[in-house]
Amino acid sequence: MKNLLALNWKMNKTPSEAQAWAEELKTQLTLGDAELAIMAPAINLQALSWFLKDSGVAIGGQDVSAHESGAYTGEISAAMLKDVGAKYAVVGHSERREYHGETDAVVATKAAQAQAGGLVPIVCVGEGLDVRERGEQVPYTLAQLRGSLAGVGADVVIAYEPVWAIGTGKTATAEDAEELAAAIRAELHTLYGEAAESIQILYGGSVKPDNIASICAKPNVNGALVGGASLKVADVVGMNDAL
Ligand code: G3P
Repeated sequence: MKNLLALNWKMNKTPSEAQAWAEELKTQLTLGDAELAIMAPAINLQALSWFLKDSGVAIGGQDVSAHESGAYTGEISAAMLKDVGAKYAVVGHSERREYHGETDAVVATKAAQAQAGGLVPIVCVGEGLDVRERGEQVPYTLAQLRGSLAGVGADVVIAYEPVWAIGTGKTATAEDAEELAAAIRAELHTLYGEAAESIQILYGGSVKPDNIASICAKPNVNGALVGGASLKVADVVGMNDAL
């Protein structure tokens, strides 16, 4: 299974900065075995689709509406993302669960909407520091996974992102990542049977060029979802080349 290097800019880069990043990436990047995808603020996606055309780099949304269309001010539909050339949509990121009160049920509805619109949802799960300190990361994360995949088909990517590792510089060890990835793989088998073997499981949380290889070398880890290190082209190239 190919590794997926998924980049999440979060709320960073104006359209002008996004254009400069894309133009620099095209001069520096040589795609290898891993797939590369950039999840940028929606305002940047049309331009990135143009500037990255024929580059082999995919684009995606950082969120997607739970609704097909209609009176939902400020939301972005799966059809809109698909129309600008998106392949992916991140759903259930811990920052949206925290700041926007997104429940597992909302995440599952968003993931199903993404699939209905022809997108591959990247479903984020992962425990907080309090859960980790109690040693309850596996049951907690699997419960979140089951709730977030209710009514969702197997054409999905899972991102295990321990909240205590996001933006903190405290990267999980490769063994920590594999513990959860293996548990998630087993749960995916329960949910989807043999199709579970084709579902990419990413790790996210302070991934950098110097740690991505060891984490993604683990048998059940199939790539990374990267925030801070996605903003500089040099770091993206370093991570791509390390996979
Ligand atoms: O979605 C990826 C993000 O949550 C990880 O952020 O900055 O720890 O790589 P960062």
